[in-house]
Amino acid sequence: MAATSSGEHMTRNSDKALVVGLAGFGTVGGGLVRLLQENADLVRLRTGRDIRLKKVLVRNVTKARAAQLPPGTELVTDPHALTDDPEIDVLVELIGGMDHARALIDRALDQGKHIVTANKALLAEEGLELFQKAARKKRILRYEASVAGAIPIVEALKESLTGNRVGSLMGILNGTSNYILSEMTTNGVEFDVALKQAQRLGYAEADPTLDIDGHDAAHKLVLLIRLAYGVHYPYTALSVRGIRGLSGLDIRMARELGYRIKLIARVRQAPGGSDGQIRLEAGVFPALVHHTYLLARVGGVYNAVRVEANAAGALFFHGRGAGDLPTAGAVLGDLLAVARDEHPNNTGFALKELPKASIVPPEERRSCYYVRVMVEDAPGVLRDLSGCMAAEGISMAQVIQKGDEGNGVPLVFMTHETSARAMRDALQRTMDAGLLREPAVYFRVLGGDQEK
Ligand code: NAP
Ligand code: HSE
Repeated sequence: MAATSSGEHMTRNSDKALVVGLAGFGTVGGGLVRLLQENADLVRLRTGRDIRLKKVLVRNVTKARAAQLPPGTELVTDPHALTDDPEIDVLVELIGGMDHARALIDRALDQGKHIVTANKALLAEEGLELFQKAARKKRILRYEASVAGAIPIVEALKESLTGNRVGSLMGILNGTSNYILSEMTTNGVEFDVALKQAQRLGYAEADPTLDIDGHDAAHKLVLLIRLAYGVHYPYTALSVRGIRGLSGLDIRMARELGYRIKLIARVRQAPGGSDGQIRLEAGVFPALVHHTYLLARVGGVYNAVRVEANAAGALFFHGRGAGDLPTAGAVLGDLLAVARDEHPNNTGFALKELPKASIVPPEERRSCYYVRVMVEDAPGVLRDLSGCMAAEGISMAQVIQKGDEGNGVPLVFMTHETSARAMRDALQRTMDAGLLREPAVYFRVLGGDQEK
């Protein structure tokens, strides 16, 4: 910004409208079309420019849309109509997926367009190449909406918290899973019914297995790791477990013990990185969260991110993680930054290439566990079970047994802290000893004051 002699502020740009080509007119695209019209006066006040939506790319032009296009905006099906239109300044990519989105962004960068995207899958897996390409071409690439919907966590890590070292970052990063878990917990809704509701509300990915199998949260976690630590944590190296097949019985048992089951994405710095390398323990997993923890109270489509930083201490971000307007608001914020010609450093670190993170192997990770087994209600079973645990050095902290469910009695125990390897081996022992009527169900339990 420059100041005139009268003290008025002028942007460095011309005050000509920023011309947008939007790819995707689904949940988020529709929200953006609506918001661009509803907030047009605010856009002008904040940037000194208008944002003009020139073209919208879709697959099917005859489909009914949730928002009405402004007069003069054209619906197109040919990607080149967007990428090769010399009047368009910025491509907003909201089609999702990998190959088509990548081709669209590559072509748009080649044609000198700036990019705004909400595509965490693409950025997690191919983002570093895209950042480099955008930097080479001196184009802006922004992606606030790709992580945690309305929560401004990308900017927070890239700008506001850059004076802090991040010790750990943990959160609920998938609105669909959190919605399903909340509906199951609070209203006793079945998994499949809750998933259908999430899809109807526009929270789920086009392929909802990304949500329920934990991959969407994992994509977002990879982006946050990059921003928090300045390292490359390959998506394929992340240990990922989702909520598919989660039973109402475990939700009820956990509740009885004072916990909620949440899909957690977590990274924390571990000691022992050699040659100054940053060593990280990271993963996505369903976990029992004590009801007194803030994360346990994050309900419905809400997301949350808890950052533990060496100067700030603990910070807790909370907001809607999915849906049309919450996500579109983040996209529009990025568009305003483009209108102001703000060129971000997309990794937040002054390195041409990010080093690879040193990774704590999943089997070495330590935590307390919730374990549910279905067993015969007979003398000695509990003794034999605890013998299998003790053989791997695992000590039980609490045990409860319920009435017969038809396929045995559910026996639930909470353990003291142990490694994932010890837990796996102990459960194998229980199987080998013929103690279980079906494979054990087990979850990690978040613990320690640092996680409240
Ligand atoms: P969506 O509702 O499925 O909409 C996708 C839109 O893209 C549709 O309009 C579709 O056209 C169009 N499209 C898809 N493939 C295309 C292709 N190859 N060529 C042309 N048009 C194509 O998706 P969404 O939920 O809005 O999500 C969009 C992106 O935002 C994804 O990357 C998603 O991960 C991300 N995101 C979504 C949310 C959310 O709450 N939904 C939140 C944060 C981030 P038709 O309508 O003609 O089929
Ligand atoms: N499907 C994603 C979710 C959309 O449920 O969180 C937001 O990224």
